[in-house]
Amino acid sequence: MKLRRPKVCVFNHQDEIPDFVIRIWDRVSRKAIERKGVFFVGLSGGKTPIDLYQRLSNMKETLLWDKTQVFLVDERFVPFDHPDSNYRMLKETLFDHIPIPRENIHPIWTEGSTLEASATAYEKDLKKYFGLSENRFPEFDLLILGIGEDGHTASLFPGSPALNDRMSLVASVPLNEAKHSRITLTLPVINHSRHILFLVAGRDKAPVLRKIMDEKDTSLPASMVHCKRGGLIFVLDREASILLSGS
Ligand code: 6PG
Repeated sequence: MKLRRPKVCVFNHQDEIPDFVIRIWDRVSRKAIERKGVFFVGLSGGKTPIDLYQRLSNMKETLLWDKTQVFLVDERFVPFDHPDSNYRMLKETLFDHIPIPRENIHPIWTEGSTLEASATAYEKDLKKYFGLSENRFPEFDLLILGIGEDGHTASLFPGSPALNDRMSLVASVPLNEAKHSRITLTLPVINHSRHILFLVAGRDKAPVLRKIMDEKDTSLPASMVHCKRGGLIFVLDREASILLSGS
């Protein structure tokens, strides 16, 4: 399948990003539900999407939450009540405020488990909810991703052995105590999605965006994300785009 060139959308201010994403979410989710009765979305942690999640939390009636299945792109291996838990952040900003059935939310279980067992259990959940047979990858309708200053995306860090995993759906990523070990969707799962949005804001991200988009540094995990289906969009604020050619 031919790769499509990513699109780039630059907004003057970061607070214009959520409305744009919500318009895409609305369109993609309606199409998915029309086609197969369900919308599969994967959400990332990090600071950039918090505004989006808060805006989505006000959309109680307009979005079809009962037909939406929400998965986490990645998680820190910490208890759910830990300040760094992605599930906790999503629960507080979004899940607690929308009429979504509890069974449509798919956290990465970390409690009472080891890192590896937690990754295995999440892989099992994915296979179950997507109805996958062996060696098949789930097809997310929409993934919301971020990019770190080092070029990581999801919990796929530069040089990580998880980047070479072509078979698993989920990888465990042992890290130091400060960063917390992580559990993440793998590249083949990410790249199997229909639509991917990279949300990137702030001056600190400008150098890495230049490496990814202008210098085509393919060693960075975010550069390894390709969308063969609907498309990949870099959704940036002006500050993040400042070092890009043509900006
Ligand atoms: C996480 C992420 C991670 C994030 C980037 C960007 O759980 O932290 O999934 O990949 O998207 O680190 O984070 P910011 O949005 O905070 O810049």
